[in-house]
Amino acid sequence: MTTPNLFNIKMIQKYDKAGPRYTSYPTAPMFHNAINGDVYAKTLNDVAQSDSPLSLYIHIPFCNTVCYYCGCNKIVTKKYERAQPYLELLIKEIDMVADAMGETKRPVTQLHLGGGTPTFLNDEQMRQLTNHLHKRFNFVPDAQGEYGIEMDPRECTESTVKVLRECGFNRMSMGVQDFDPIVQKAVNRIQSKEETLRVLNDARNNGFTSMNIDLMYGLPHQTVETFNQTLDTIIEFSPDRIALFNYAHLPKMFMPQRRIDEAAIPEPQVKLDILEHSIHKLLDAGYVFVGMDHFAKPDDEMAIAQKEGNLYRNFQGYSTHADCDLIGLGLTSIGYVGGNFFQNAKDMDDYEADIQGNHFSVFRGYQLTQEDHLRRHVIMRLMCDFTLDYKTFESEYNIDFKAHFADALNDLKTMQDDQLLVLNDDGMQVLTAGRLLIRNIAMAFDEHLRAKQGETKFSKVI
Ligand SMILES: C[S@@+](CC[C@H](N)C(=O)[O-])C[C@H]1O[C@@H](n2cnc3c(N)ncnc32)[C@H](O)[C@@H]1O
Ligand code: SF4
Repeated sequence: MTTPNLFNIKMIQKYDKAGPRYTSYPTAPMFHNAINGDVYAKTLNDVAQSDSPLSLYIHIPFCNTVCYYCGCNKIVTKKYERAQPYLELLIKEIDMVADAMGETKRPVTQLHLGGGTPTFLNDEQMRQLTNHLHKRFNFVPDAQGEYGIEMDPRECTESTVKVLRECGFNRMSMGVQDFDPIVQKAVNRIQSKEETLRVLNDARNNGFTSMNIDLMYGLPHQTVETFNQTLDTIIEFSPDRIALFNYAHLPKMFMPQRRIDEAAIPEPQVKLDILEHSIHKLLDAGYVFVGMDHFAKPDDEMAIAQKEGNLYRNFQGYSTHADCDLIGLGLTSIGYVGGNFFQNAKDMDDYEADIQGNHFSVFRGYQLTQEDHLRRHVIMRLMCDFTLDYKTFESEYNIDFKAHFADALNDLKTMQDDQLLVLNDDGMQVLTAGRLLIRNIAMAFDEHLRAKQGETKFSKVI
């Protein structure tokens, strides 16, 4: 059964404008450098005794080749000898965090290794990293924890998959984007179906319990027909989750994108056709649209969490783990601790000098006000539940929701007229046709965006 109302071309065209993805609120462009390593050290100490869970994010920035479309924080190098000194810095940073938290007993329920390419570390280095993490933090047992790693299958053997499982990883997220050879050549990411499916099967056979695949539309030379073949292959493999990203082409910000032939990028109408076709195909194949760019099987924790109102959003996208403190480790990583954001240095020399000198490498961040927390909560529930119950916020924040958000609710009336949402006396519901436009709806509650209209650079919503 399809849900044809999810894709409403007229509405998508009408509301297609640049907007944040709200993996954080306020968004990263609001971060500033008054938040530094000293504020971070104090905050870590303040939260050490809480008994709520912890989430860890570790960034491994290296990739051995560049994918031209890539907008991630990465360092392209074939010098594998760069991994060991970086690992040593990470281990030192882990120690600094654990020391600042005084050997905290807080349970770690979530670990995510992202990149770049985390498997740039060899098996032995990966063991060193995870052993050290387990020595300094209190991880919950495998079945209760979400321990994920982003994978590039191009040079991953079965023995590495086994090592990763021994290291405690139980989830895998893999970038595929598109299997078409012409598209792959144009974006410099040659990755065969066979090697991709082999790594995924190895992961399943070795006890990984959840698999995510990233796909992308809007890449050069893509057509509905070619992308349909990629979808066929992926659906046949049947991953638990699929992310379908809209290619964000921002060549001024991301140098490698200048190597993409703009003339080969599909026209907006073709992109929309690919999106429409993909949505229908994934829904027909039994996936549920979770939100933004994410699809999951109905029995996947993510889909279940959404039904039960327990879905959250953080820098890795949607998460089934409560909105807990998130500690970021490594170059460029962003953490959320004690209700505030902290970001590590983006430059390797700065990161190295800070950590070697025993200083946290935080170069910017954001201390949320009470108003920010309220708006963050509203945006989080909208992005995850597609509905708001005003009472929840009125009692928790001591406000009259409709009076407090009069401007936002007034702005949303146009979307109500367009049958994208319904505004009631006691809450609002996003209708099916509004789901793909959830960022536009969330934007109405973003007071920083209102103040800075037109200044910040975000990708288009669709
Ligand atoms: C953080 S990247 C790293 C994944 C891993 N290194 C790999 O290549 O498989 C995660 C995903 O971000 C998405 N991504 C990267 N650049 C993008 C862009 N310019 N626009 C939209 N999505 C992008 C891709 O789908 C990619 O798989
Ligand atoms: S998509 Fe992944 S492998 Fe490719 S350059 Fe980006 S981070 Fe590296």
